[in-house]
Amino acid sequence: MQELNPTDAAQALPDLRTLWGSLSPRRPRNGEELDEAIPANRWSFPKEKDLEHDKRKALADDAVLAKLSAPFRTRLQLAKLAQTPRRAGEPFRFAVLGDAEPGRFWIFRKLFNVPGVFQRQLSAVQEQPVDFSLQLGDMVSRGIMRNYLRFFKTLDEADIRRPYLTVIGNHDRLSPHHRSNATLYTQTFGRTNYSFEHGGVRFVCLDTSAHALTRFQLRWLDAVLDTPRTKVVFTHIPPACLRRWTDFGASKGIGGFKPGAVELTEIVSRRRVSRVYLGHIHGFGVQDFKGVRYVLTGGGGSPLFPSGVNDKFHHFIVASVVDGEVRETVHTLDRGTFEIPSGRVLFSP
Ligand SMILES: [Fe+2]
Repeated sequence: MQELNPTDAAQALPDLRTLWGSLSPRRPRNGEELDEAIPANRWSFPKEKDLEHDKRKALADDAVLAKLSAPFRTRLQLAKLAQTPRRAGEPFRFAVLGDAEPGRFWIFRKLFNVPGVFQRQLSAVQEQPVDFSLQLGDMVSRGIMRNYLRFFKTLDEADIRRPYLTVIGNHDRLSPHHRSNATLYTQTFGRTNYSFEHGGVRFVCLDTSAHALTRFQLRWLDAVLDTPRTKVVFTHIPPACLRRWTDFGASKGIGGFKPGAVELTEIVSRRRVSRVYLGHIHGFGVQDFKGVRYVLTGGGGSPLFPSGVNDKFHHFIVASVVDGEVRETVHTLDRGTFEIPSGRVLFSP
């Protein structure tokens, strides 16, 4: 067997500059000097004109986002809802639509996402005789400009006629699973904790997007639920103690949030809240927990990932309020419907 001399081996290796030249789109041609073909600033700091370009693009994106999102600010949508008020006790309906983001990583989008589902359901909601719709968060895969622009273009093209309200999801923040800002959500929609009244019902939108509730939020929630009226809460992430949904294999409570979770369930039980609507887990379910009905409706259009929830299908909910009682009809993507029974949901051990 012929052995390769180390010197020959070194010579057999391609020269790094030659290799770079062959890979670079600006490789030398027809006797052009190799050194001149290597961009001088490829690995160096950006030039002044690069920074100027970035700044102009950021300003342009800001302007487009501001224009597209302006009609959807929560304050304006609530003002729109107030233009068609309901007397206390007067029957009315509202829609609840779950997670919409298409999946953060391409492999999950490829495996589980069905493009266009959110748009189809958004249009279907507009055909319902609802006074408003509420989107339960995770509208974008990650709270960056490109995603928010795409989302508001979708809303802009959807011909939304009903007041459109939202709660913030963890993916609507800059980093979905770490401490991060919610700048683009607050810049476009507004406050992340708010309440409003319609038809004698108090609706509360609660921000659990940071996988936790603070003491301040819990005090606010307790105060805002201090009313004899019918009460409905919307929030994105389920409290971890709803183990039917939040356990995933050996990972107990992984699908929910823990800090403030028990306190949340105690407050909504004590304040006799009629419904808590939740998203985050891409499926459907109903749990009666300590006297309160929790409805999981995370099938707004996001990929139906494997999770601890058995019932995974795309859907939205139309809830009706009659004499202070809330009842729901589930609308599936194939235009099927079924009622959620009012009887207490019991789980076998
Ligand atoms: Fe989520």
